[in-house]
Amino acid sequence: MTVTTERSVEEFTASPRQLFIDGQWVDAASGRTFETPDPSTGDTLAHIAEGDTEDIERAVRAARRAFDDGPWGRLTASDRGRIIWKIGDLILEHADELAQLESLDNGKPFAVARAADVPLAADLFHYMAGWATKIEGNTINISVPYMPGANFHSYTLREPVGVVGQIIPWNFPLLMAAWKLGPALAAGNTVILKPAEQTPLTAVRLAGLMAEAGIPDGVVNVVTGFGETAGAALAAHPQVDKIAFTGSTEVGKLIVHAAAGNLKKVTLELGGKSPNIVFEDASPEAVAGAANAIFFNHGQCCVAGSRLFVQQNRFDEVVAGVVEIAKSIKLGPGMEEGTQMGPLVSDEQLRRVTGFLDSGRDDGATALTGGTRYGDKGYFVEPTVLTNTTPDMKVVREEIFGPVVVAAPFQSLDDIAAAANDSEYGLGAGIWTQDISKAHALAKKLRAGTVWINCYNVFDASLPFGGYKQSGWGREMGHEALEAYTEVKAVTAQL
Ligand code: NAI
Ligand code: MG
Repeated sequence: MTVTTERSVEEFTASPRQLFIDGQWVDAASGRTFETPDPSTGDTLAHIAEGDTEDIERAVRAARRAFDDGPWGRLTASDRGRIIWKIGDLILEHADELAQLESLDNGKPFAVARAADVPLAADLFHYMAGWATKIEGNTINISVPYMPGANFHSYTLREPVGVVGQIIPWNFPLLMAAWKLGPALAAGNTVILKPAEQTPLTAVRLAGLMAEAGIPDGVVNVVTGFGETAGAALAAHPQVDKIAFTGSTEVGKLIVHAAAGNLKKVTLELGGKSPNIVFEDASPEAVAGAANAIFFNHGQCCVAGSRLFVQQNRFDEVVAGVVEIAKSIKLGPGMEEGTQMGPLVSDEQLRRVTGFLDSGRDDGATALTGGTRYGDKGYFVEPTVLTNTTPDMKVVREEIFGPVVVAAPFQSLDDIAAAANDSEYGLGAGIWTQDISKAHALAKKLRAGTVWINCYNVFDASLPFGGYKQSGWGREMGHEALEAYTEVKAVTAQL
């Protein structure tokens, strides 16, 4: 049975969606549109305005004006916080509609979008709303040895960075928009948001809700379009003060180069190849935990627990358990009731992930289950467990971003940290053991921005999230996120 589509969703996808610039819905300057497909069939779901360099130009002008002389900076922090809170409320009021748009556009099960993506996005705005009134500086006693006898009053101000460009991916489209917009707005910045071309719908819908919440014209602009054009123009724009990016490590490096022109501030959330480590004394829940770590969101998670390490004497049992779960997962369209795993987001990702499966097979890895595309319609891939891998294989080193885990045994606490850290990435890690000293000792040794003990994929608006090594620069969420969206000014007066 299919989830009954909300009428608002049908209306939303029936006609081409426009760009949101300076508080107005407008066509792309070129008049062009592009299609976003339904990944469960490949059929066209909706048409979207194809923003380009000229549209980015318009959006940056609007955001610049809204920042430099507009109403955003003149609102009290309390009023700003109230508007941001209202965005969270409106997301919850439209939860079914947003979850359906997300499911249709991205392919993830409606039930998952409704239970996780949408409430988490709302919670992020609610959390960040509270910060608007709590951004503070310090008073500082200065000494100035070369001015004996002089008396000073020094303090710091924490101010918004200015105009912020935000480029987000397709794996959690609404949630990634929230992670980006919430702290930027709480700190008083203005924004140009460029959603992923694969999943533009919820960001466009969110723009409407933000206007309804009272976000003034020009403060948030949403320009849909492609990475190489709209995204690249935003990253390079000389009037943009900061760029925040989530996506591939490859494009993250391009962003850094593009940002060099005006040395705009940069934060990056990039790829991962996260180790999930199961010790021999782990509780039985570790098996379901290991399956969830990789199969949640079809493996399309930057923190996916894609390298499963199991202590030698429980290796066969734990891996067999994960295989059993993989076999039981019900694949289907996201809007089909009972679907546990939908299709990958795009034809490109289907080809990328099945390419990795081929490479694993060619290199001698064994697929205990899965290993191929599922069906011949849509972009489905079977949940896959690979063993007999070696640390140099592509499937072990590179981010697959699909429902594919590589499992390897380990001997002891002494050798697992080195094996787990043997990656150019450092985003997430999981530890499963009933020995809490061992867990914390290993947590210290892991070079990763997030470590989960006896759990995985636990996110909260108050927890900082980000990567070591090539997994990124800076942190999102928590109060740490505000640091990336503020500048510090030191003011000194001689008394
Ligand atoms: P991508 O990095 O190309 O796309 C992410 C965002 O960047 C999109 O909004 C895209 O339009 C934009 N973009 C692309 N090229 C750009 C450029 N030159 N300048 C500015 N913006 C640009 O990722 P893609 O191609 O969708 O996926 C490829 C791989 O990236 C995946 O297989 C996965 O390994 C990784 N990835 C990681 C994500 C994460 O959460 N860390 C999210 C999405 C993808
Ligand atoms: Mg790309």
